[in-house]
Amino acid sequence: MDITDQPTVLLPGEVRMPLLGFGTWQATGPAAYDAVLAALDTGYRHLDTATLYGNEREVGRAVRESGLRREDVFITTKVPPDRVGRERETLEASLEALGVDQVDLWLIHWPPSATDSIPMWRELLAARDENLTRAVGVSNYSTSQIDELVQSTEENPAVNQIRWGPMLYDRQRHAEHRDRGVVLEGYSPFKTTDLSDPVLTGIAGAHGVSPAQVVLRWHIDHEIVVIPKSVTPERISANFDVFHFSLTAEEMREVDALGNA
Ligand SMILES: NC(=O)c1ccc[n+]([C@@H]2O[C@H](COP(=O)([O-])OP(=O)(O)OC[C@H]3O[C@@H](n4cnc5c(N)ncnc54)[C@H](OP(=O)(O)O)[C@@H]3O)[C@@H](O)[C@H]2O)c1
Repeated sequence: MDITDQPTVLLPGEVRMPLLGFGTWQATGPAAYDAVLAALDTGYRHLDTATLYGNEREVGRAVRESGLRREDVFITTKVPPDRVGRERETLEASLEALGVDQVDLWLIHWPPSATDSIPMWRELLAARDENLTRAVGVSNYSTSQIDELVQSTEENPAVNQIRWGPMLYDRQRHAEHRDRGVVLEGYSPFKTTDLSDPVLTGIAGAHGVSPAQVVLRWHIDHEIVVIPKSVTPERISANFDVFHFSLTAEEMREVDALGNA
């Protein structure tokens, strides 16, 4: 399966980001390699890692050994905010560990202190301008923190990766991202969700799928990027098997309403 065969969102610079990606936090060593290789074999074409996850080497090896072309896999990594002043060497270490010349998306993992915020963002923009990453963004930023970056540099983050799921649904926060041209990427879709909630089990039953698949499809139908993590082969494949159904407008409203409970 090619990147263009699955739902994607367009980032600035004509960068296509698959809406469904594969999370790798807490997967390390051989388990990380096996999980990423299984994900790529299943059809995932978007991988989420970070300097702090300690698995970039395994992620890179799985990409190489998958037999896929580099341009057919979207790779995100993240710089921890305490690397301020050492952003470039941190990215170079990520590229070396991943075994690539460029990542697709480089994020600030969470907001640095107020004084470090703009200098660090400028370093990410510089790395993008030098083609070390195709796009740049942030993670765990509030809307006002995003606005500060834009006011100082006139460059908005392509993406903000934040904790998200049906129980955290916030229509206004989603709209604030859309209004600013910032793609909302959700993380921890399952950890933030009660998968036994009757709304989710009811919709799952109607489609002959699992509540976890409903949660993933709900993100995709909102055009919100979602990056479920699993090291379990059956879950890796079930979490990708969400392209044969979609939620009705009424079902979308019911799941959205879980966020207001
Ligand atoms: N930017 C940030 O600050 C930040 C923070 C947290 C996460 N993230 C990213 O987002 C990714 C996803 O978030 P996450 O790992 O925190 O949580 P998650 O994807 O919501 O949940 C992962 C957990 O759910 C289990 N699971 C996977 N598929 C399942 C299914 N179909 N049914 C039931 N349980 C299932 C996994 O178990 P098994 O692995 O045992 O199958 C694992 O215990 C991370 O891996 C990371 O890449 C980013």
